[in-house]
Amino acid sequence: MKTESPATPPPAVRVWDPFVRIFHWGLVTCVVLNQFVLEEGKTAHEWAGYTASALVLARLIWGFVGSRHARFSDFFPTPSRLAAHARALRNGEHPVYLGHNPLGALMMLALMATVLALGVTGWMQTTDTFFGEEWLMELHEVLAHGLLIAAGLHAAAAIVMGRVERVRLVRAMVTGTKQHF
Ligand code: HEM
Ligand code: HEM
Repeated sequence: MKTESPATPPPAVRVWDPFVRIFHWGLVTCVVLNQFVLEEGKTAHEWAGYTASALVLARLIWGFVGSRHARFSDFFPTPSRLAAHARALRNGEHPVYLGHNPLGALMMLALMATVLALGVTGWMQTTDTFFGEEWLMELHEVLAHGLLIAAGLHAAAAIVMGRVERVRLVRAMVTGTKQHF
């Protein structure tokens, strides 16, 4: 939902339910483990990757049955929502969204799709048909690096936009409550 203007900020509002928050930080943990900690291709890596994929699948279901701002209907980046948001940014406005803003939502969907693609390309390497296929390893690697870059941009955008809009976006993903400062 969009508020009227940043000049009339809402008071502290509960936006993210516990599922969304556990999903988010659980996903971050699995991805960080697989990128930097666990040995590539080993059992622990496979389990962390499958856990990340399962979290995303559960989140897709939650997008239909979850709380108000967790639902796709609340934030799905339709062309008209994206155009309106881009227009506002071009005009130097920073519309405040209680839930996800459309450009952020686009990135979140891309992040989730990439995690699923990593789960699928990782699993394929465990099958007799695709075991040892060079192109599949390459694809898995490219997806992993792409995810790292996209997640970096996403985290930076959350920090920067939080400062610009004077809303504690990152803290909200921890506590569930969005607050102006
Ligand atoms: C969030 C999901 C995942 C992430 C972020 C991820 C990340 C990575 C990274 C960074 C590498 C090293 C690539 C390189 O530089 O050579 C790698 C390798 C590998 N991963 Fe994953 N992975 C994920 C899921 C999975 C799953 C679910 C499986 C299998 C069930 C898997 C199997 C492998 C295998 C076999 C390799 C070694 C061969 C290769 O480079 O493709 N991964 N993964
Ligand atoms: C591997 C790294 C990451 C991935 C894959 C990821 C993925 C996601 C996804 C899928 C969402 C949507 C949440 C939902 O509606 O369920 C989201 C939201 C969010 N993420 Fe991340 N994230 C990552 C790292 C981070 C980091 C490091 C931060 C903190 C700096 C962060 C801050 C946020 C915030 C603040 C939101 C909510 C944005 C809003 O208010 O609209 N994320 N992220």
